[in-house]
Amino acid sequence: MRKLVSRSAPALTGSVAVPGDKSISHRALMIGASAVGKTEIRGLLEGEDVLCTAAALREFGARIEQQGDVWSVTGVGVGGFSQPENIIDVGNAGTAARLLMGLLASQDLKVYFTGDASLRSRPMNRVIEPLSKMGAAFDAREGGRMPLTLHGACEPIPINYDLPMPSAQVKSAVLLAALNTPGTTTVTEREATRDHTENMLRSFGASIEVSIMHDGGRKIAVSGFAEMIATNVMVPGDPSSAAYPGVAALIVPGSEVTVENVGMNPLRAGLFETLREMGADLTLTRRRFSAGEQVADITFRHGPLTGVDIPAARAPTMIDEYPIVAVAAAVAKGETRMRGLAELRLKESDRFLAILEGLTASGVAVKADGDDIVIQGCGGLLEGGSEIAVNLDHRVAMSFLVLGVAAQQPISIDDAAAIGTSFPGFVELMNGIGMQISEQKFETGA
Ligand code: S3P
Repeated sequence: MRKLVSRSAPALTGSVAVPGDKSISHRALMIGASAVGKTEIRGLLEGEDVLCTAAALREFGARIEQQGDVWSVTGVGVGGFSQPENIIDVGNAGTAARLLMGLLASQDLKVYFTGDASLRSRPMNRVIEPLSKMGAAFDAREGGRMPLTLHGACEPIPINYDLPMPSAQVKSAVLLAALNTPGTTTVTEREATRDHTENMLRSFGASIEVSIMHDGGRKIAVSGFAEMIATNVMVPGDPSSAAYPGVAALIVPGSEVTVENVGMNPLRAGLFETLREMGADLTLTRRRFSAGEQVADITFRHGPLTGVDIPAARAPTMIDEYPIVAVAAAVAKGETRMRGLAELRLKESDRFLAILEGLTASGVAVKADGDDIVIQGCGGLLEGGSEIAVNLDHRVAMSFLVLGVAAQQPISIDDAAAIGTSFPGFVELMNGIGMQISEQKFETGA
């Protein structure tokens, strides 16, 4: 295991571009593979999660090639996947697993899925349930866990599905299954979740209608068998990745860091709203639309941060950002309450527990209150001196490395491997703005 250690550092400065958005990258490959013709993708995240999706789609017959920074996908058309020869191993990638199951659920194929230890422990029942209603059958381990076998439906059935939890992955699985299903399938979500699937299906020519309900929820209707036509995609920088250099700059005195070309989809932007409420100095410049998604450059400047109360209703728009918000809260002055975090227990690791244990070990007062986490900020440097168990979770690894820059004693993580799933080049980029992250060599006994 590669251990890393992060130490306090003087002011961070620079202008950086983070890798492409993970959610959009998965979708560009999958929807490109289901369209007719050749889709070119620029800015694709070349992280392990997305490479697993590319490898799986090749198994289903799509041609995917890389030339420089352009990825091209020659699609097989809706419903055109072929029977894979191999077991589909999607590594650490929950999005790959759940969205691919959706795509396959309405195609008459038998597919064996597995993943790494983290993914094998995560619940797949949330997609098994609606996809079974559409006619697919699953043979899964206890609790709907992988490894599992999916038997796609020969005669898929359209459904009207009310999402029982705010999950863009479950919503997307049903919408992707609907592409090869006769009639109209609808998904209703009470709380709006990231809408990259809807945006991309629309731009590829799928038959999709989204209506906003009076309570802010959404109803999405997809009619099956519409032909999708290859469409080039420009993937913006991942706002979830921008959060790491951004928060690092906010908590180190004298810092100013710009992250260029960050996706600003409103359903992903809860972090920036929260940081502003904490008093963060963020400036957005070059606001523009790029391939249907809002994009901007963001400058993060250090300044005092204050604790805030983050409403549960905001969780879907910042669901992956709680570990890094917890870092900002640990350095801020006063109390931060992060509400409604039940879903955090089901991510790449139990992030609810990871925040509690990691902050406690680093000398920060933190407690659970039902599904809320309450953090007493240190109002400056915290103690540190902790070693964090990452448990195959990239966001836990990166967040605690950022925390190390605001700690009196270095903070280390036990395993850096997971970072490559979403943020290749993380250490180099962070050290490039002035952070001090280095390999921690194992002590060898005599
Ligand atoms: C994602 C949706 C979210 C998020 C994940 C990516 C997506 O998961 O946590 O990192 O691309 O649709 P849930 O759908 O489980 O909330």
